[in-house]
Formats: sequence, C-alpha cells, structure tokens
Amino acid sequence: MPELDSPQRQKPDSLMLTGFWYRALPADRVHRNRLQKAMLLEIPLVIGRDRLGHPFALRDACPHRGMPLNCGKFDGENIECSYHGWTFDAHNGQCQHIPSLTADQNLKVERIYAGSYPCEEQDDFVWVYMPDPGPPGTGFTEPQEAPDAAPQVEKFGVSGNEKYKLAYLTADMPVSIDHGIIGLMDPAHGPFVHQAWWWRSRHSIHEKKKKIEPIPNGFRMSAHTPSSNSAPYKLLRLYADADSITTTIDFVLPNLRRETIRAGKYWFSSLTTVTPITRNQCRIDVVAAWNIFRWFPFGAELLKFVFAKFVEQDRRTMELQAEGLSHNPHLMLIDDADRPAKWYFELKAAYLEAKRTGGEMKHPMAGPVTLKWRS
Ligand code: FES
Ligand SMILES: [Fe+2]
Repeated sequence: MPELDSPQRQKPDSLMLTGFWYRALPADRVHRNRLQKAMLLEIPLVIGRDRLGHPFALRDACPHRGMPLNCGKFDGENIECSYHGWTFDAHNGQCQHIPSLTADQNLKVERIYAGSYPCEEQDDFVWVYMPDPGPPGTGFTEPQEAPDAAPQVEKFGVSGNEKYKLAYLTADMPVSIDHGIIGLMDPAHGPFVHQAWWWRSRHSIHEKKKKIEPIPNGFRMSAHTPSSNSAPYKLLRLYADADSITTTIDFVLPNLRRETIRAGKYWFSSLTTVTPITRNQCRIDVVAAWNIFRWFPFGAELLKFVFAKFVEQDRRTMELQAEGLSHNPHLMLIDDADRPAKWYFELKAAYLEAKRTGGEMKHPMAGPVTLKWRS
C-alpha cells in the first residue's frame, strides 16, 4: 500500500530538549547594569549585562525563599535580593553576603548559589545554554560550563561588521515547540499561507523534487542551479558574475534552520531558531547576514520587510491553528510533504534514546532520499 494511503497519526509531545544553546533575548533589549526577565523551557531567567557589558543569565528565583531576582538591586556586578538582601555574583550566582548573619554565625555563604547558566552574545542575540536537569541539591550546586560555543550565523570566514550586514526579526507563536518547528520546515503551506502579489499566487503551485541527505543531528537539502530562468536568479548570477548559485537548507536539533545562498564571492545566510518558551508557546527568531547588495541603502530594511511579512503570515496561521489544537484533535503526517516533520520527531526520539542509554545517537535516515511534493 502506498504510504500516502496510510497517514501516520502524530501527537506532538512538546517535550523540550535540554543540553543545547537557545536564543534568550535580542541583544539590544539587554542593557548594562539592568535586569531583564526572560523564559526558556518553562524556566524563568533574569538576564543582564555587567558594567563591562558582558551578559549573564541566572535562574530568576532567589535560592533563599524564591523571590524573583529581577526585583532586586543590581550594581553592575552583584544582585541584591529585594526580600532579605542576600547578594549574588551576577555571573556565577555565588552568594556574596547574607545581611542577617551575626559575627559569630559561620554559615559558609560562598557555598550557596543562585542557579546560573552559561550565557553568550552571538549575532544580535543573547544565548543561554540550558543544561540537563542537574543533580539534586540546587542551592549548593556550582555552575556548569557549556560543552561548546553558541551557534553562529555562517559568514564564510568573513569577519568585521563592515564586510557584511546583519538583521534580525522575532515573533511569538502561541503553539508548542513541535508545531513551531514542523511549521518552519513544512513545504506545502507556502502557496496557501504566503501569498502576495509581489511573491507568488496559489496558482503558481508546481511539482518539486528535492534531494535530502542526513547530517549529524539533522538533515540537509542542497540545490545547485546552473541555469535558472527565474528573474531574481538571473540577476543575481549576472551581478555575482557566477556560473551557478548554490542554496543549502539544514535542519539541526534542537531547533536550528540554516539557509545559505552562494553565488561566487557573494552570499546570503540565515539562522532561524524556534525556541521553546513554555509547553504551549514558542518564539521564532530569524537572523540573516549577507554581503550581496551591501551598497543598497535600504537593504536591511527591505529584507526585514519581506521577512516580517512571511513571519507574520506564519504567526497568524499558528494563532488560528492553536485554536484547533486546543481541542486535542487527531493529527496526521503524510508522505512526502510531511517527511521532514517525521524526521524531526525521529531525530528527537533518537536523541532522547541516546541520552537514556548513554549510547551513540542513531540517525533515523540511512542515506540520501529524494522527496517529491507540489507547492
Ligand atoms: S528570598 Fe531572597 S534573600 Fe530571602
Ligand atoms: Fe511559513
């Protein structure tokens, strides 16, 4: 029986994966000597910058009696809880002072910690590493280090802000992380959700064939267009004086979608993430970098305008979808259009299984696959 006839029922479990970096806040919302609330994976955080501008992230709860630390006083170095005045180092959360202690009481304050998280600024965002739930004894647990650095937008070895442009966009989605992610990789909604006179109409729907290959923790779709007839591609090839244009789209756990377009020495690159905020809420952040048409005065604004349209169409769709989902309907995923969504669930399950057994992660794809769909 063809697989199209036996759609798979799928109940996203909305499980949020730990052991990864997540985008917490746009960097321009985090100011020196100030405290800002944020939430990741249902964990409330307080985020700020010390007096040198370095960002930090603490659990937004005092280890004494749970007062949110964002209500406290911050001097650019330490946070003083607003309830009983315990103070904590903003970076590692170590307790510095407990005002109620008398001279002869020898409680070791330095052994007390407000939970802290590895924190980095990368491409216009403050990233926070969410570790696996630690051993019991929070309050006396020293901070952990992240095993790797926060993900970056691919810039093909170019460094220095004057050599490329960077812009970001962010939107809240009232759905679980799983619906957010499969919405992001879903190729079939384009003609219905993303209609615009300057982009495409639903009548432009046609058959597509794409080769997808497994990569560590994810999958890649790459295309090489030596002679495309579409006007923007022709223009780009001419401008870049390139024989071909190569586009690559990667999805990598837990939530990263990388898209790159290369034409000769020019490139456009984006890193989109869907971040779990709570069980029923996620946020989509798109950060794009490019060195194509850098001279164009409204480049960043134009790009933001186009992206904002797309993201708003997705956001509105998911808002309506959330209404449907609130009644817990049965769902299905079909081949081939929903195959990326199936891989996502399988990757997630494989990741969790590897964690559980301590073994190596088994990739759900055995090799390259060709998918066909109409969109
Ligand atoms: S709750 Fe923070 S010092 Fe008591
Ligand atoms: Fe979309």
